[in-house]
Amino acid sequence: MQKIVVFGKGGIGKSTIAASLSAVYALGGKKVIHVGCDPKHDSTVSLVDGALIETFMEKHARIFGIRDHQALGAKDLLVKGRLGIDCIEAGGPEPGVGCAGRGISMMLEAFQELDVLESGAYDVGVFDVLGDVVCGGFAAPLRKGFAEKIVIVVSEELMALYAANNIAKSVRTYASNGVYLAGLVANLKVKDGKSDRKRIEKFAKAIGTSILEYIPRDPAVREAEFARDKTVVERSPKCPFAKSVRSLAAKILAARKADCPIPTPMNDKQFYGGW
Ligand SMILES: Nc1ncnc2c1ncn2[C@@H]1O[C@H](COP(=O)(O)OP(=O)(O)OP(=O)(O)O)[C@@H](O)[C@H]1O
Ligand SMILES: [Mg+2]
Repeated sequence: MQKIVVFGKGGIGKSTIAASLSAVYALGGKKVIHVGCDPKHDSTVSLVDGALIETFMEKHARIFGIRDHQALGAKDLLVKGRLGIDCIEAGGPEPGVGCAGRGISMMLEAFQELDVLESGAYDVGVFDVLGDVVCGGFAAPLRKGFAEKIVIVVSEELMALYAANNIAKSVRTYASNGVYLAGLVANLKVKDGKSDRKRIEKFAKAIGTSILEYIPRDPAVREAEFARDKTVVERSPKCPFAKSVRSLAAKILAARKADCPIPTPMNDKQFYGGW
């Protein structure tokens, strides 16, 4: 099973890209589990016909308080999405209350207890994780050895690269768990930014990784987002975004640990010193 984790700064395009990746893999005949690791719990929306599914934390409050995990099966945790994709959202506390990363840690513990990932049921797992790895909860997929291939979504904006540098630090920290950085996904905010591309290339070099794909700004993404019923790759399979995501999906599957060196993130002084 290939376990792919999509990290990146808030609002950078993780969920849009992750859901389309899951759809591409499922359309290609793979058995897929899509795991939303964000308290906002909207990663799976386009995979379940626009519905917000009951999150792991909501289920936990409703069922697990009464029955222990062993009495449950993996199917009790998952919602069957379109294209046969099994979906789950970690969920989290109400804003301002509790720790947002805790839901992720608890969900992954339940995965372990119920052998969700090791059951042989899946070819691919796509994890969509908020980029604030300063909180250990969001690094849980790395820490517990759930993750394997990491991709970081960035844009040309400095703070997106700052978050990517931080995520690369986490990848370096947990490299001994078998985690490796497959590369960056450049989801540019501007339509045609040559100098922006150069900057991201320079950044990739500085942290010892490469750019897997450039994703174009595409109005089809917004249309799919408002329609909520399908991923972009299903709704507009010929649009430039869909083409790039299909190319990205193949590159991620082909990435091998031996070809992906441990990243060399910068310290803050180096980052702000220019590179
Ligand atoms: N390539 C693109 N072209 C056009 N719009 C895009 C593109 N990528 C992302 N967007 C838009 O940017 C917004 C943020 O995308 P998305 O929700 O996927 O980001 P995210 O990283 O998952 O955010 P969060 O951290 O809040 O979960 C959405 O409105 C989405 O439609
Ligand atoms: Mg998201």
